[in-house]
Amino acid sequence: MPTQTATEIASIVAGRTLAEAPGGRLDSTNPARTSEIVATALLGDAGTFVDACRAAREAQQAWREVPAPIRGRAIQQAGRLVEDNKEALAHLVTREIGKPYPESLGEVQEIVDTCNFFLGEGRRLYGMTVPSEMPDKQLFTFRVPVGVAAIITAGNFPVAVPSWYLVPALLCGNAVVWKPADYAPATAEALAQLFLHAGLPEGVLNLVLCDGPTTSEGLGRALDEGLVDKVGFTGSSDVGRRIGELCGRHLQNPCLELGGKNPMVVMEDADLDLAVEGALFSGFGTAGQRCTSLGTVIVADSIHDEFLARLTRAVESASIGDPEQDVLYGPMIDQKFMDRFEDWLGLVRGHHSVSGSTGTGRITSDNPRAGFVGDPAAGIFAHPTIVSGVRGDDEIANTETFGPIVGVASFGSFDEAMDLANRHGYGLSSSIYTTNPKHAFRFRERITAGMVSVNNSTSGAEAHLPFGGNGKSGNGSRQSGVWVLDQFTRWQSMNWDYAGKLQKAQMDVADVQADLGYRIG
Ligand code: UN1
Repeated sequence: MPTQTATEIASIVAGRTLAEAPGGRLDSTNPARTSEIVATALLGDAGTFVDACRAAREAQQAWREVPAPIRGRAIQQAGRLVEDNKEALAHLVTREIGKPYPESLGEVQEIVDTCNFFLGEGRRLYGMTVPSEMPDKQLFTFRVPVGVAAIITAGNFPVAVPSWYLVPALLCGNAVVWKPADYAPATAEALAQLFLHAGLPEGVLNLVLCDGPTTSEGLGRALDEGLVDKVGFTGSSDVGRRIGELCGRHLQNPCLELGGKNPMVVMEDADLDLAVEGALFSGFGTAGQRCTSLGTVIVADSIHDEFLARLTRAVESASIGDPEQDVLYGPMIDQKFMDRFEDWLGLVRGHHSVSGSTGTGRITSDNPRAGFVGDPAAGIFAHPTIVSGVRGDDEIANTETFGPIVGVASFGSFDEAMDLANRHGYGLSSSIYTTNPKHAFRFRERITAGMVSVNNSTSGAEAHLPFGGNGKSGNGSRQSGVWVLDQFTRWQSMNWDYAGKLQKAQMDVADVQADLGYRIG
């Protein structure tokens, strides 16, 4: 039973921290030490969500008129505050969702990188001047903010991935209502406070702490009342599909970043040690709880047994446990993630072999992991599991398994490898290990994923390249870098005729007289 008295945190609407808890109270616990309460969240109800959208709608009118370079300056200050609070925020990430501390530092750095990129975008946000087909007329394009963005994010990257939405949305002149994951309210509140202290006017950024069903009701109502213009969602494909349907009814296209079954193809000519290192980090880093985590390694027949033996050794000797110490991975984010992970272990069939640990499922004193760092009974820890002998039509080859489990399959021809890599219908991230550039480019051409790594992990995308997927991984939207600007602005075109008479497009246009019958000689 949790013992400590924890700090209380709450939604922030129009700059005001709400003291009521109409949606109840939620204790956020440390998954590495479940007896420790990190914070108690006062939850809002659907009305809180709608109120936040209304506050955002009001605040956005003035925010859109702030010159973009000044909005960029606010983003700069936010990035500065995040950087100056880097260790404190990273410790909170580790305490609240169990990410190993060095990875948490990386997560916070990703916010700083995002702010650094977009603070300059405030001085660009380029439109174009375009030549007209008529004299004395000029054509232009402008980026205009979309309006109010409702951002709903997941627990595995509780601050970095939200920053991918918040930073460009704010920079482009939108107001935001952010509904963070239930698993990380304290981390989310800390990030919101840092942003609010950066000089954003009240109501431009609102934080709503509430559960999933409440969000769904609140979002539905806010869309019906015309208070939301853009939805950003990172989470499961199932919820993404429902959000897509809801937004479609309002003629909106959400920015969806959903699940993955990210393949890694290991060619015969690959550097095997490098491929093993990549598979270890891709599959088991963050306890496999990234959207970009490795799903199945697809290995050339001739090197399959050697690869599997080396990967098994690497996974067996990886340190797992207390995320404040030097470990490959810490706990599952929450008991729910553990429960689902145990369900997915049920996808292992008779023709599969399992390796990588001294047990499967939850690590306990009765089901120990050799070399465990810390006390497994204190938290929610899972054995790493390699499942070999995977075939293309196995359920495990076609299901996202969000946890420390990796399938291994083998292939004879490149066509077979590509079939295994694509047939699950996800299309987020992918990787190939090869020393032959021809294989790398053929893979790039034929993989359906939005992101391709060559001789690198499926996870660990840099913060300024387009991030996003296809098929079950998303609706084609992209985050990060200049590409995300198309999510948070709409193009407005303008023409200005100063001829002093009506010039009709397509009709009053000069033609070019050519002698098309002309031939050389
Ligand atoms: C996610 O899991 O939702 O590329 C995002 C990566 C990280 C982001 C993952 N930079 O693995």
